[in-house]
Amino acid sequence: NPEDLKTAKTVGFKLDGEDVQAFEGETILQAAKRQGKEIPHLCYKDGYRPDGNCRACVVEIIKGERVLAPSCCRYPQEGMDVSSTSERARTSQKLVLELLLSDMPEQGKSPYNPHSELDYWAGKLEVWNPRFPGRGQPAPNFSHPAIAANLDACIQCTRCVRACREEQMNDVIGYAFRGHHAKIVFDQDDPMGESTCVACGECVQACPTGALMPSNSVGLVEPEKKVDSTCPYCGVGCLLTFN
Ligand code: FES
Repeated sequence: NPEDLKTAKTVGFKLDGEDVQAFEGETILQAAKRQGKEIPHLCYKDGYRPDGNCRACVVEIIKGERVLAPSCCRYPQEGMDVSSTSERARTSQKLVLELLLSDMPEQGKSPYNPHSELDYWAGKLEVWNPRFPGRGQPAPNFSHPAIAANLDACIQCTRCVRACREEQMNDVIGYAFRGHHAKIVFDQDDPMGESTCVACGECVQACPTGALMPSNSVGLVEPEKKVDSTCPYCGVGCLLTFN
């Protein structure tokens, strides 16, 4: 509410040449979003704790020390001058998107969401045909009755980990191993269908690429199939009938 700005403590800064007022405690990205300005972002999701791990949201702080900073984690300071569209910021954002896109499965080969947030930002910044070879990830796993896990399309943004652990308090999804072997795991690296997942669907809502999708959307479920779940009215829309 613009009225709130009259009473709340705010921080004034410049973003892409325009004056922006951030509420105290708001990040650059949150203030930009509230005012309808678009900065690419993937590991950040409204309402979730920012993790700052994808770097798609970098902006250039152009007053004083010229540094690149992740806008989802950086708080504005009074008088700060920030650009999300400078050559340096755009080059970094595009390179991140290009690297992530290079890891996506070939369309048609395995299910992932071609209308994902990653594709949205790639289209917006005109990042097409990544130059880099993909690194190859685990094969799709369709062991779960409601959720198709295709970690080949995972960008390790950890939104699903925060969704499961911090939003739903289920703590089924984790991030394990190191370096090239780092990946999302379910419980002790079990197939998703054998894990303690209760099919709440929060991770599906959180995933920005479609690495986790409703099984019915990839043609894996016959409607009317009965499964045990604690959540018959979740947002997954999996069309399963619940016992
Ligand atoms: Fe900021 Fe990922 S959205 S680092």
